Amino acid sequence: MSQLSILDPIAVPSGDLTERARRFCDLAPYRNDPFGRRNWGGVLHSLCSYQGKLKPSIAKFLIEWFTNPGDRVLDPMAGVGTIPLEARRQGRVGVGSDLSPLAVSVTRAKLEPFDPSEVADLVADLDKRIADGPELSELIQMVDVDFGFNGPIRSYFQEDTLREILIVRQAFADELEPSPARDVVFSSLLHILHGNRPYALSRRSHPVTPFAPSGPFEYRSVIERLETRLARVLPELENLASVSLHGEAFEADCREVPVSYPIDAVITSPPFAKSLRFWSSNWLRLWFTGWDRHDFEAQPQRYIDVQQRSGMEPYRELARAMHALLRPDGLFILHLGETARVNMAASIRPEIDPWFEIEYAGRENVEDTETHGLRDKGATVAHWYVFARRRP
Ligand SMILES: C[S@@+](CC[C@H](N)C(=O)[O-])C[C@H]1O[C@@H](n2cnc3c(N)ncnc32)[C@H](O)[C@@H]1O
Repeated sequence: MSQLSILDPIAVPSGDLTERARRFCDLAPYRNDPFGRRNWGGVLHSLCSYQGKLKPSIAKFLIEWFTNPGDRVLDPMAGVGTIPLEARRQGRVGVGSDLSPLAVSVTRAKLEPFDPSEVADLVADLDKRIADGPELSELIQMVDVDFGFNGPIRSYFQEDTLREILIVRQAFADELEPSPARDVVFSSLLHILHGNRPYALSRRSHPVTPFAPSGPFEYRSVIERLETRLARVLPELENLASVSLHGEAFEADCREVPVSYPIDAVITSPPFAKSLRFWSSNWLRLWFTGWDRHDFEAQPQRYIDVQQRSGMEPYRELARAMHALLRPDGLFILHLGETARVNMAASIRPEIDPWFEIEYAGRENVEDTETHGLRDKGATVAHWYVFARRRP
């Protein structure tokens, strides 16, 4: 077995952290077939499209090679929960936290146990609200649909569909009690909100970023499409619940994650410096979670994406906070970006050094996979994997 593992790029390597980290970076096992395929990981990793989502196979190998069954694995900037979901699938306890209500709702749906009959009741409740709800003319007195980033909200939907979307949005924002079942339904709605396939509620757009819509204005029933989506994801979610430990999701700043138990490993992929602005690339889904015109101006200042433009100090605070949550000897693994202008791995090093000893940092050139032949100084040219251990 050990002879074979020298050659086998997907066997868990033996050796200390430095050795395993070196092997991870040299072999890039997540690129091998079938892990390198676009849709590897199944429908749960695609519960809701998200700009900036980590490739699920990277999460799979980080969990498998650097944590143990039963470990508590935290991602404090979890996005849509790729890392904690992989942790959960592999018998670890996945804990995810993010500031974005969109991200947290999807992460919670992937991690927390839910009652399937509550899902059915919620869909029936939404159906009734749509049947009994006000006319569009009344709704748009209360909700501004004349703003947006690639065209106003109202240009994305046929009028009757827009009316249903506004009724459902209001129910989630103001009336429905929080519960994991609610997050399952909400994630499915978020996913179908826009796209270029028959499942989408919008006119033809893009499933990840809501580019300006095109094509005819056609009525698309919210409940019909929601039911189709749920039929696809519910069996997988129920199956996961029956075989794995459940986890937990929080809506919190990454420097203030409210966990009260020791964490064994923190694995995270922070926003890449100079990457696309998350709020404009996720804007329509953020609007659906309740953000209005004012939130798009005020909220971004709270996010590391914006804060790191004036320096890497936020990572010093993050490292301090992770040091407080991790068990002695716990691991802190970061997946970072390098552009022509900024090498995040180099600039983060002095910020985390007071609390963590970096045992290995490996660079992966991604120019072939990420730039699509475009020469752009803001584009990511490499990914870095930084493996650090908690100082006593
Ligand atoms: C690159 S994405 C992570 C993607 C994630 N690995 C996934 O697969 O979906 C970075 C995340 O950091 C979150 N974020 C930015 N600033 C934050 C903060 N101050 N506290 C918590 N999360 C934050 C963003 O909302 C975003 O979801």
